[in-house]
Amino acid sequence: MKEKIIIFDTTLRDGEQSLQASLNTKEKVRIALALDKMKIDIIEAGFPISSPGDFKSVQEICKIVKNSTICSLARCVEKDIKIAAKAMSKLENFRIHLFLGTSKLHIESKLKKNFKEIQEMAIKSIKIAKKYTNDIEFSCEDAGRTNIDELCNIVESLIKNGVTTINIPDTVGYTLPNEFKKIISKLYKRVPNIDKAIISVHCHNDLGMAVGNSISAIQAGAKQIEGTMIGIGERAGNAALEEIIMAIKTRKKLLNFYTSINHKKIYQTSKIVSKICKISIPINKAIIGKNAFSHSSGIHQDGVIKNKKNYEIMVPKDIGLKRKKLNLTSRSGKAAVKQRMKEIGYLEKSYNLKKLYKKFLELADKKGQIFDYDLESLAFIKNYNMKKKYFKLKNLKIFSEISGKTIIFLKILCRNKIKKIKIKTKNDQIYGINKAFNKILFIKTSLKKFKIKYKKKNNTTSVKINIFIEYKNKKFYEENTGSNVIKTYIKTIIKIFNNIWKFKKNRKKIQKK
Ligand code: KIV
Ligand code: ZN
Repeated sequence: MKEKIIIFDTTLRDGEQSLQASLNTKEKVRIALALDKMKIDIIEAGFPISSPGDFKSVQEICKIVKNSTICSLARCVEKDIKIAAKAMSKLENFRIHLFLGTSKLHIESKLKKNFKEIQEMAIKSIKIAKKYTNDIEFSCEDAGRTNIDELCNIVESLIKNGVTTINIPDTVGYTLPNEFKKIISKLYKRVPNIDKAIISVHCHNDLGMAVGNSISAIQAGAKQIEGTMIGIGERAGNAALEEIIMAIKTRKKLLNFYTSINHKKIYQTSKIVSKICKISIPINKAIIGKNAFSHSSGIHQDGVIKNKKNYEIMVPKDIGLKRKKLNLTSRSGKAAVKQRMKEIGYLEKSYNLKKLYKKFLELADKKGQIFDYDLESLAFIKNYNMKKKYFKLKNLKIFSEISGKTIIFLKILCRNKIKKIKIKTKNDQIYGINKAFNKILFIKTSLKKFKIKYKKKNNTTSVKINIFIEYKNKKFYEENTGSNVIKTYIKTIIKIFNNIWKFKKNRKKIQKK
């Protein structure tokens, strides 16, 4: 029978303590709610003694979270324990998480004590915590570098004194998977009362082993894994929970474990954490990165068209993500082009795939990414000229009024006619520009997404703009770099309108055929 692995999230404690700016209560509550919806078993909401703000956040989180158990961190100090309990006092059940260094290094050079004194401190604190709750977790900080005899010794006495969860942290991310597995196995073999507590692990990622070490630990008997969303945390971070949860799910036959996490919330929750913590998700990040489910090379695209399992061990739906279209670039093969043509309604007998693919490669080399409207035009329009322009920017003047308003004068050449536009906006210049373009060029579009990125080099600032616009359910994308935001934005919009115009014209020709 499969055994449950308890998932303990410390995004709001270990994760938050690593951020450049601490989160406010509202932000912490939003993250806690997302974790609760994801059905995280235990949420470590904070370290209440660390600041009045952290205390308040824990209090608010206790009011709002419905299913997860709330936990707060405390040093082995009476005041810490009292404050932690006070912050969670509205709840009937809560967990107090005590920690104390157990390695020789921590005991002697950080705490300036000896092992016996540490043991006494720990037992005294457990007694205090027990006045408030029976749910007590104890972390043997730096357990990964603690002498195994002393670790077994202290774990036995902690359990004897009423600790219900023993956490074995690899605080500095030093151990290797085999080594960490052995530590957990030895604890199971040598601590006589080990079955009276849950064994937890908490791995840091300094050598990139946090997830691997956590999985090795559950293979040796650990029942709880601690980590954070996206792996945020001190230095190189903590074990990334989304990776652990999906590893347990994807390799369930081998591991024989399960979690009660709602994995369909993984993508949404990581996006919330990334946005609030201002930590961007690398495109190649396992599970949640932009490229985690996208296939680029011709061989891979061909493979997934034939059978997704050729190159996918999980499906995007499992983490709550919609499947993306194949990204068509010069690396794509004929099979991907044929598949996309089929998806947009054209069977192979209605066009010449060989000729289309040749033109596709030429255009992809110049343009980078090929969109549906390019494909249609390449397949059905003779001498499709992507460079031909219908709209050209002839003149642009930007004025700022003292009132805060911006006035933009534009002169655009629309084939052989000059059109003049005056845009007057207050705060929202982008909205004003889009509205004016839709009006004057008679094309009704909607702006789906735009990104403005500033770069500073040798006292000059440049700006890079990406715009996604939708026209008749088709997405049009362009990017541009310049020195002025409004000017660069307008130039990018004009590029897009040129593409839309070409698409409109070509569509008419295709329909006539
Ligand atoms: O890394 C660590 O040892 C910790 C403890 C407080 C659990 O974060
Ligand atoms: Zn930690």
